Amino acid sequence: MSSASNLILVGPMGSGKSSIGRRLAQRLGLPFVDADQEIERITGARIALIFELEGEVGFRAREHEVLAQLCREGPQVIATGGGAVLREDNRRLLREGGFVIHLHVDLDQQLRRLARDHARPLLQRPDRREALQRIGEERAPLYAEVADLRYDTGSGNVRQAAAQLAELLHEHGILFPETPPAGISP
Ligand code: S3P
Repeated sequence: MSSASNLILVGPMGSGKSSIGRRLAQRLGLPFVDADQEIERITGARIALIFELEGEVGFRAREHEVLAQLCREGPQVIATGGGAVLREDNRRLLREGGFVIHLHVDLDQQLRRLARDHARPLLQRPDRREALQRIGEERAPLYAEVADLRYDTGSGNVRQAAAQLAELLHEHGILFPETPPAGISP
């Protein structure tokens, strides 16, 4: 058994990082934090506005600062933004910051889950499918590079995914200070 400082969720937009992460944190008795929400809390601005005013480069700089802070804390469950793996320094932070789970989702499911989204700056374009495919291909090796575990979110619901992940963590011998035995709901 080994103890991890944080449980870090990476993966594309619409892969369930926030919803599954929140549920998993509940099961594990850990605090949950969403890096994008943290950026919005600190700046008092929505992600879309930060992209508009400072561009993607400005957003990535803010994202890096927040990730560095969150990875220093813990133990907690951290949901990262889909592009958190783009910067090499972020990938190092994530790898060193805890146990990293890559949530995988297939393109059709991703499109369905994001169908009503009007907030994510990278999705405000007519060719969503092509954009998501291109972004996905570009980032797949980066998720693989940082991940200790890959989990396919498939068609199961959030509750099932959190339960299976708790089980997998147990099998991997990953312990957190307040982790109840796998299979037992809080
Ligand atoms: C982004 C994903 C978003 C958010 C921003 C950029 C990306 O987070 O950080 O819009 O580059 O994929 P989610 O993955 O939580 O949607």
